[in-house]
Amino acid sequence: MSKPKIFVTRAIPEKGFELIKEFCDVDLWPHELPPHRNELLAHVHGMDGLLCLLADQIDGEVMDEAGPQLKVISNHAVGFDNIDVNAATARKIPVGNTPDVLTDATADFAFALMMAVARRIPEAERYVHNGKWKTWGPMTLLGVDIKGATLGLIGFGRIGKTMARRALGFDMRVIYYDRREKKPSRDLQATPVAFETLLEESDFISLHTPLTPDTHHLIDSEALSKMKPNAIVINTARGPVIDPDALYEALKERRIFGAGLDVTEPEPLPMDSPLFTLDNIVIVPHIASASKTSRDQMSWMAAQNLIAGLKGERLPNCVNPQVYSSYPTK
Ligand code: DGY
Repeated sequence: MSKPKIFVTRAIPEKGFELIKEFCDVDLWPHELPPHRNELLAHVHGMDGLLCLLADQIDGEVMDEAGPQLKVISNHAVGFDNIDVNAATARKIPVGNTPDVLTDATADFAFALMMAVARRIPEAERYVHNGKWKTWGPMTLLGVDIKGATLGLIGFGRIGKTMARRALGFDMRVIYYDRREKKPSRDLQATPVAFETLLEESDFISLHTPLTPDTHHLIDSEALSKMKPNAIVINTARGPVIDPDALYEALKERRIFGAGLDVTEPEPLPMDSPLFTLDNIVIVPHIASASKTSRDQMSWMAAQNLIAGLKGERLPNCVNPQVYSSYPTK
């Protein structure tokens, strides 16, 4: 019996890929950079399944180019703003993602960024490398304290809650803003507050919200103007949640202390971005989930979603369960 045909848009960890190879006839895009639009359209043609990454834009045209036999789209990520989910739902194509398995790795990394910006670690490293270290100085590279500071979490889902758990160990006060979670969390000692209150009271603001039309440029010049002068903004969510021009102005004028970005708008950030001229920002290339364990598990979960879809079974993690007729519509 012939195997289902699938297009995999980049090499993924063996753990998931081995499973996929057993079950499918795989067309693997072998390059580091994503396929261009015309290459994506050419490769997806006639496929039964698609395994893609967050850097691939999957819209109705891609789905139609694949053809009516396309049974599943499996995203190797928890976020899925790169996929037109409404277009998939309209075509009854289930879309899978990889929640949970990257929660700890992402929260660890957001914490690492917080500490790196607060204690100016990359700047201090450059200082040493550039031969500026001449002596011990009582005022050299002073940072801000974490103990006792207020951590404001925007988004209190899995990763936000895990951040709150980490913050307990650092004796931080935790407040959060989340449209859906409104009850104080006693075990995590975290208090829900209004968006404005969070901006005004936080020493650290960490973003853990998906990118939607509502969260696009949520951190704009108005939001930045309400923050404390010692505030540090951390983004491990999606780049466009912050307006990069507004962030640049606030950092340049030292209206806030600093920022740590794992994600940027656009990605990758062009080398002529003015953000690179600042020393109070740390920018890394979207690696918050990049631990061996987490990426292995993401590949495994993406493979499970893909295979379930190809078999016509319900995806273990489906972002548009409306495609299943038994799913309650209201
Ligand atoms: C995701 O999965 O959405 C992260 O941004 C990358 O791991």
